[in-house]
Amino acid sequence: MKFFLDTADVEQIKRALEWGILDGVTTNPTLISKTGRPFKEVVKEILEIVDGPVSLETVSLDAKGMIEEGRTLAKMGDNVVVKIPMTPEGMKAVRVLEAEGIPTNVTLVFSPVQALIAAKAGASYVSPFVGRVDDVSGEGMKLIREVKEIFMNYEIDTEIIVASVRHPMHVLEAALIGADICTMPFAVMEKLFKHPLTDKGIELFLKDWEKVPDRPF
Ligand code: G3P
Repeated sequence: MKFFLDTADVEQIKRALEWGILDGVTTNPTLISKTGRPFKEVVKEILEIVDGPVSLETVSLDAKGMIEEGRTLAKMGDNVVVKIPMTPEGMKAVRVLEAEGIPTNVTLVFSPVQALIAAKAGASYVSPFVGRVDDVSGEGMKLIREVKEIFMNYEIDTEIIVASVRHPMHVLEAALIGADICTMPFAVMEKLFKHPLTDKGIELFLKDWEKVPDRPF
């Protein structure tokens, strides 16, 4: 499973790149706005340091506007993926952009059939939001299981991006289901490394190492 960061924070992206586990980045208008930085400046920096796909979202509500915005975003870098909301107008835009060779990521997906529609429109990626489904007392991971099953039934190659991830259990379950990608906040990625027994084990090894005579370091 590929690991994406769901952020527009360049420092966070740099740290994850140093760890060697970052496969791509997803952003949305909220995440860009949180940086407090000019859009073009922050996006240019992200595209310079990330080799993998970087999703940038359109804001128009009509297909014509989404297509124009998508073309503008795609010109910013070879690895740009245009994020389009799951609406009928959005699906019209997906079909046009994909036909032009511009990859799209259909976002704000909350039902398995919405994911199927995105795939039928030709989207390269689909982003079901697990955390926001959990927030309204639904079962976010059930959504992923069902999307995966449908895509397997029809050998659909649209990649599933598990989005709106809130904790490491979401990442584990996404991997068990066989989702293609999990996009997560930096805080969640950082937590994936942690286990109390790892910390305890390091502490014990260091303590015992002190007892070893003639240590080379
Ligand atoms: O970028 C899409 C999605 O991951 C947003 O997550 O936490 O705002 O529900 P969240």
